Amino acid sequence: MAFQQQRLVVVSNRLPAALKKTDDGWEVKAGAGGLVTALAPVLKNRGGVWIGWSGSSDPNLDVDSLLADFSSKAGYDLYTVPLTPEEVDGYYFGFSNEIIWPLFHDLQSRCRFHPRYWRMYLDVNFKFAEMVARKTNSDDYIWIQDYHLMHQAFFLKSMGVKRRTGFFLHIPFPTPDIFMKLPWRWKVIQALTEFDLVGFQTMQDRRNFSACLRRLMPEARVQGRGAVVTMDLGNRQFRLGAFPISIDYNQFSEMAERPEVEQQTFSIKEALRHRKIILGVDRLDYTKGIPERIRSFQTLLRQFPELKGNVNFVQIAVPSREEVDEYKELRTEIEQLVGRVNGEFSFPGWVPVHYHYRSFPHDELVAYYSAADIALVTPLKDGMNLVAKEYCACNTSGDGVLVLSEFAGAAAQLQKDAYLVNPYDMEGIAKALHRCLHWDREERRSHMTHLRDQVRKNNIYWWVDSFLQAGISKTLVDFPEVDT
Ligand code: ADP
Ligand code: F6P
Repeated sequence: MAFQQQRLVVVSNRLPAALKKTDDGWEVKAGAGGLVTALAPVLKNRGGVWIGWSGSSDPNLDVDSLLADFSSKAGYDLYTVPLTPEEVDGYYFGFSNEIIWPLFHDLQSRCRFHPRYWRMYLDVNFKFAEMVARKTNSDDYIWIQDYHLMHQAFFLKSMGVKRRTGFFLHIPFPTPDIFMKLPWRWKVIQALTEFDLVGFQTMQDRRNFSACLRRLMPEARVQGRGAVVTMDLGNRQFRLGAFPISIDYNQFSEMAERPEVEQQTFSIKEALRHRKIILGVDRLDYTKGIPERIRSFQTLLRQFPELKGNVNFVQIAVPSREEVDEYKELRTEIEQLVGRVNGEFSFPGWVPVHYHYRSFPHDELVAYYSAADIALVTPLKDGMNLVAKEYCACNTSGDGVLVLSEFAGAAAQLQKDAYLVNPYDMEGIAKALHRCLHWDREERRSHMTHLRDQVRKNNIYWWVDSFLQAGISKTLVDFPEVDT
């Protein structure tokens, strides 16, 4: 069966719909984060099934009927895996957010390697695999998303369920020095080898994975060249590839050109009195480098006082993992920093930092992207970072500048035309901002045209097709090297 016709079953920790408690009961909202932004248009476009957790562990909640309307409007089926509060605590907050998330982002000192988390991770993975087995058939393509569910192929096989499986890791894969600290390193690597295809964001992530695999399974041999290769383990083979994730370019770009969004863009510029706008947009997460970014802006104002009153930094942060102490502390740290910078520089008629801590409707976010002169995207480490790509797609004037962390996966593809910075180097970022604020129009346009072309060409549909082709086709042909 050709990969375009095969029924696609996406399995991720979260569904694309999130349940939120309000004073009037439960509300169904679109989920936040890069995974949902990328995959929701894909399933809407081709139909299929999405299996995941609803985000609530309230046993009295009738999740299926709450999601029925969302599912019929979206045009694909949703199946929820119910999780108890204990499971959410051990598997999601514990193993996923306190072990794999910090470790894979090179922040090993933040890890808490509790054996209880590991056991709960395995139990929940088994539960997900049972649901996959129940809701799918052998003709389906099962596409597992992200680090929460690395044991899906392992459990499906151990249940004797034959399915074609692919796994895509949305976050970075670390070097052996870091990965080897994981107490369950062998079991995790071994579980990943059970998929038919394992996909990464960049060639560097793929190389890191191969290096870890060879360290733990010396018999492993790579066959082939290019973005997708075969890994030979002697008794069996599986494929490995680099597939940089992307966005629905047209959706963003067309939205930016709608008259009502153009009006919002104008209103934002007017409210900020047509000063230069530097924009940050992130989930509030310690990997995103938000405090370092605010300090860089503070450095900019200290080192180039002529900019006072002429530039604004707008930071939009969507609440994320609010139950976790480190995220609460980060929020406090950011709020204090914003207060400090504004306290240091404000004068009547000008407040330098505008900070928003909430989820924005799609059109308002697009209007902010369009209004910004510079997008300042400086994660300490990031799998891809879709905000960088969204900014380019929305910059229909072609006048904007993307200042991008060299440690974001997106830097591999966008390095020629983004201004790359080290997110830890506050003086370096201040200098880069100063320089970009003074670029002439021609220079800005030339870089932004190339950036937009790159994101348009390598959009989310290209990503899906290249992954599924590598996952389903019998032979590996036409997989050119991707940017590293
Ligand atoms: P991650 O996957 O770590 O969340 P990405 O940059 O890849 O990081 O994706 C973040 C997604 O969240 C983007 O699609 C972005 O538009 C969205 N987002 C970020 N901040 C907000 C916000 N305040 N309101 C709505 N969406 C947001
Ligand atoms: O993109 C990485 C990721 O962890 C996704 O898997 C997830 O959907 C997103 O960030 C948001 O995180 P969470 O689901 O923990 O709120």
